[in-house]
Amino acid sequence: MEKLLFLSKFLRSPKTVGSVTPSSRFLAKAMVKPVDWSSAKNVAELGAGTGIFTRYIDQLKGPDCKVVIFEQDHSMRHRLQTRHPGLYYHHDALKISDAMETYEIPQFDYIISGLPFTNFPQELRNGIMDEVEKALKPGGLFIAFQFSLQMRKQLAERFEEIDLAFVPMNFLPAFVYQCRKAEI
Ligand SMILES: C[S@@+](CC[C@H](N)C(=O)[O-])C[C@H]1O[C@@H](n2cnc3c(N)ncnc32)[C@H](O)[C@@H]1O
Repeated sequence: MEKLLFLSKFLRSPKTVGSVTPSSRFLAKAMVKPVDWSSAKNVAELGAGTGIFTRYIDQLKGPDCKVVIFEQDHSMRHRLQTRHPGLYYHHDALKISDAMETYEIPQFDYIISGLPFTNFPQELRNGIMDEVEKALKPGGLFIAFQFSLQMRKQLAERFEEIDLAFVPMNFLPAFVYQCRKAEI
């Protein structure tokens, strides 16, 4: 069901959805691995889709951890709200500051992204990355997967430290970026 839903969304908006199938559990595990779940207080997930990362996030988060899920597609977001009622929801990753105001979140410790940045026009990429940079606390981590190394240079201009991991067990094999915001 999930794969069919995802495929139908991809066929309707290929650039926004960015993949024909949801990520694998191998990629999902690699995306949540850098998070210190015992201390994380505020976490965002951008582009949750059918929720393969959301499932792990909801399982791993501590009782005091606030998680905000950003998903543009109404039906996928609605499905996630039903499955994970303890999380908070917003429709647009370009409006992270609005969601922070609504949910009274000072800054995020971690932002986990499934957004297909390479499909986005540069202006949208910059807009979302400006929001991400502003929303992260000093020393906070932005974790993103991409199917290429195209974003590496742009990320290096914004973040102090970048670590890369490769996950072959995914359609398509993916790179996981771990980008640390500088401490003040
Ligand atoms: C490549 S899919 C990833 C889905 C899921 N995280 C996974 O890995 O299987 C990208 C998702 O980002 C969503 N998306 C694209 N632009 C968005 C935006 N500006 N705000 C929130 N979600 C967005 C799409 O609707 C889609 O569900």
